[in-house]
Amino acid sequence: MSEAASSNPEATPPPLKRPGDSEVNSQGEIPSAYDVPLETINPVNPRLFSENRWQEYFARLRAEDPVHFSETELAGRFWSLSRYEDIKRVDSDHENFSSAHGITLGFPIDTQLPEGALNISMFIAMDPPTHDVQRKTVTGVVAPSNLAKLEPLIRERTVKVLESLPEDETFDWVDTVSIELTTMMLATLFDFPFEERRKLTRWSDVATAVPGSGVVDTEEARRAELLECLEYFTRLWQERKTNPGDDLVSMLAHGEETKNMEPMEFLGNLILLIVGGNDTTRNTMSGSVYSLNKFPEQYDKLIANPELIPKMVAEVIRWQTPLAYMRRTANHDCKIGGKDIKQGDQVLMWYVSGNRDTDFFDNPDDINIERPNVRNHLSFGFGIHRCMGNRLAELQLRILWEEILKRFEKIEIQDEPERTYSSFVKGYTYLPVKVKRKKA
Ligand code: HEM
Repeated sequence: MSEAASSNPEATPPPLKRPGDSEVNSQGEIPSAYDVPLETINPVNPRLFSENRWQEYFARLRAEDPVHFSETELAGRFWSLSRYEDIKRVDSDHENFSSAHGITLGFPIDTQLPEGALNISMFIAMDPPTHDVQRKTVTGVVAPSNLAKLEPLIRERTVKVLESLPEDETFDWVDTVSIELTTMMLATLFDFPFEERRKLTRWSDVATAVPGSGVVDTEEARRAELLECLEYFTRLWQERKTNPGDDLVSMLAHGEETKNMEPMEFLGNLILLIVGGNDTTRNTMSGSVYSLNKFPEQYDKLIANPELIPKMVAEVIRWQTPLAYMRRTANHDCKIGGKDIKQGDQVLMWYVSGNRDTDFFDNPDDINIERPNVRNHLSFGFGIHRCMGNRLAELQLRILWEEILKRFEKIEIQDEPERTYSSFVKGYTYLPVKVKRKKA
């Protein structure tokens, strides 16, 4: 979902602006949000997320500086929007705020990419008219009629994974269930060789990881793996050119607007679909188990009334906010919340913060599976880039919970999770759980 593969200043954390900067204190720890000068706060800090410390920082920004300015050596000038209404307004205004310079914090728009970086292009990072025609070409794969066709297969695969879970034994929910189910789904969408499906998981991880964070060591290593992805899909593309099916590769190979795509554009759109359909849903699957354990009275309510599953799914997507922000770039000088935004400034719409805005949601840090306005959450964005796969994600989560409630009394977390080191993909790398099966 990101062009992180080509330009990600998180890859080399920007130098601190000055001692006492919000990023770390002298013990190497993240200080309290209220112990640092407001102007030094930079929310694009992966540690705020991997250590689950983001809440306090955004609470302070929403209250004291909802349109917050930062400037770093690598990224230049950027703004962080933390309130619901500002985020929605900018997200809905593609004429004044462009996606074409990237959707995560990047280098200033006229900067040359660093050597070795891949210049990948994908329709999430395009403006009309190219965005609209490319989106239209692949949108059929998630049309309601196609989802109805997919439902039995998703259910069958979900049941198989749940039936194979060990009992009375701690295991990692992230790898055993969330990754397995979302990877199977992707293999289905691409008609990807099923036995090799974990390649998709790997490419998705590589595309969004920060070099040095454990997934991939260097920008060059990332490039090599992503080129392998391109090579693999180019083979599938050639096969489907002569022998098309209903899958996404065939749609791209035959679509009027996509059939002549340059290799980097093809790779970009593949990565968009792989990451879009993978990390986000995967992290919501883990987030649903984690959050219901944190709010056990809500879990009990769900068990007592499974009809609440669709509302619970929407609420968990709000609470989790699997993509913490999206970026736009100002096309002109303008004002947001009274602040002067300059043409070319990067504007980060922090969905994770808007979803915690108390002007919009009551007790937003809590899970409330009967929250009346939950469908208005920001997690899927707004406007022309609104998530294309939202119904598919909701379908997968609904089926997962229907099948969980049928066979387990409870899924119990055994310890706190480990979280993803990223300020963009907000998720989990490890969640130890035990399951208790219902007596026959
Ligand atoms: C809970 C799961 C998901 C979340 C939270 C999520 C979130 C998002 C967000 C925030 C955006 C950008 C919105 C904006 O800029 O206004 C987006 C776009 C997109 N998502 Fe998702 N997504 C999820 C699942 C999926 C799935 C399963 C797919 C697979 C088909 C998918 C495919 C896409 C695509 C292709 C775009 C680009 C749309 C465009 O630029 O027109 N997403 N998603």
